Amino acid sequence: MKTLLMEAILKIENGNSKFITEHDLSCFLTNLERKIEDIKEELNKNEIYNFLEHGERIFEPTLNLAFEITRSYTEALFIAYAAQLHDIGKYRLPKQTLCKVDELTKEEINEFRKHAEYGEQFLSFLPKFSKLVRHHHEWYNGEGYPDKLKGDEIPLGSKIIAVTECWDAMTFPRPYCITKTPEQAKKELKKYAGIQFDPKIVDIFLKIGSTGNKGYSI
Ligand SMILES: [Fe+2]
Repeated sequence: MKTLLMEAILKIENGNSKFITEHDLSCFLTNLERKIEDIKEELNKNEIYNFLEHGERIFEPTLNLAFEITRSYTEALFIAYAAQLHDIGKYRLPKQTLCKVDELTKEEINEFRKHAEYGEQFLSFLPKFSKLVRHHHEWYNGEGYPDKLKGDEIPLGSKIIAVTECWDAMTFPRPYCITKTPEQAKKELKKYAGIQFDPKIVDIFLKIGSTGNKGYSI
């Protein structure tokens, strides 16, 4: 899988030129894995909701959805890996903001929202990839963050991640959150189609579900 991921990243980041070499990418991914292990250890120590596991859970649903939309396994892998790391920037948030059970203050909400930019900075070695992370909280109607992009200004991969990550956040049991049934979660996605989410992407997700049609083989 790592080789396939590397091939997908190199192909999409480099386009027709070759400014990132396989060696550079391999070193970067190895350092990234180390950093993620450090973050995981830190998070486990503090017993807080592990956003990295949330990312890992949506890898496959994102791969399925992205493949259904793009019909390109390379592109789908690229988007799925960005989905896995979409919340990585949260490691820079103050623990009291990340763990807070009560409603966040205005200042804390502003701080919390910075995780999209922190994630982009963390992955800046790969500009096309980190762009998907930066924009995963943009809304289809332009009311999201950090750049208030709307409609097709938002990268396709970011719009796909917005749907799969929201599905997981709604349906996966978490402390202090009410878990939605799949039926309730579907209603919520439909309700926000055209507002928060790209309606075409919601339609496809509702058609294939989180397990997808698996039109590809690994
Ligand atoms: Fe996020």
